[in-house]
Amino acid sequence: MNKLKHIYESQQFDQANLEKIFTLADQMRVDPTPYRTPGKILATIFYEPSTRTRLSFESAMLRLGGSVISTENAGEFSSVSKGETLEDSIKVISKYADIIALRHSEIGAAKQAAAVSPVPIINAGDGAGQHPSQAILDLYTIQRKFGEIDGLTICMVGDLRYGRTVRSLCYFIGRFYKKVKLVFVSPKICRMAWDIKEYLDEMGIAWQEETDYVKALKMSDCIYMTRVQKERFLDMARFEQATNDFCIDNSTIVHLKENAVVMHPLPRLEEINPEVDEDPRMLYFEQAGNGVWVRMALIAILLNPDI
Ligand code: CP
Repeated sequence: MNKLKHIYESQQFDQANLEKIFTLADQMRVDPTPYRTPGKILATIFYEPSTRTRLSFESAMLRLGGSVISTENAGEFSSVSKGETLEDSIKVISKYADIIALRHSEIGAAKQAAAVSPVPIINAGDGAGQHPSQAILDLYTIQRKFGEIDGLTICMVGDLRYGRTVRSLCYFIGRFYKKVKLVFVSPKICRMAWDIKEYLDEMGIAWQEETDYVKALKMSDCIYMTRVQKERFLDMARFEQATNDFCIDNSTIVHLKENAVVMHPLPRLEEINPEVDEDPRMLYFEQAGNGVWVRMALIAILLNPDI
């Protein structure tokens, strides 16, 4: 099993890491006592907005008996606004905290931070790069629901071009779930990036781009919806072209399999109408809740390499 010092991308994990995290998350849910980390401090340093990731990391650390220090608008309220480099910030924060969860707008920022950090760095989202802890909690949610991930048809819908969660998920699927079939449904200018398609081909994963949304819904076990991210578009005219016509509402859920699930990393906009929230196939709030157990597992592993 890989000994993880930092978590910055999905490609770092091996199968044993993933299985360990799922088992630990199950245990955290029931009784985290053996994994408590009193006296340890988590710093959450967020250069981009967040509700779920920051608060679930903080909740995870508090449930483990540790403490939290935080800056939720680091670009404006940290010394970066005075010109400090990310590297210098991390070197200093590592004197105050035992582990750092970092969200940044630049692809590769977490890896850059990990290169200079004496304490574990967790990538809490790096621009349009990756969001590995989200992908792990997504997989954990699917595993709990179906018992087995391999062999499922997973349909990713929405902003596949800039979506960091779908990128991280594809890297995990490529390595560990060879019999998963991927279906991509998106506005034309938000299609899945070529590097991920090439990677999936290299790994022998079956994937297809589907323009017939109803057909995609009918064939899939898991529908993974995503929001078109306005903040990633420099040109608002291009954003207007990315209007997401693909939504889950009372008129489209009729096409879902009886035991399908609908997931979303959240926040959602119009792509999932709240009118369907009570349908038992809608898993997004349960998925967000699972973030706490998975992040407790990640913190425990990084703070205690003997686990
Ligand atoms: N899923 C996710 O990353 O949500 P937040 O942006 O609220 O952290």
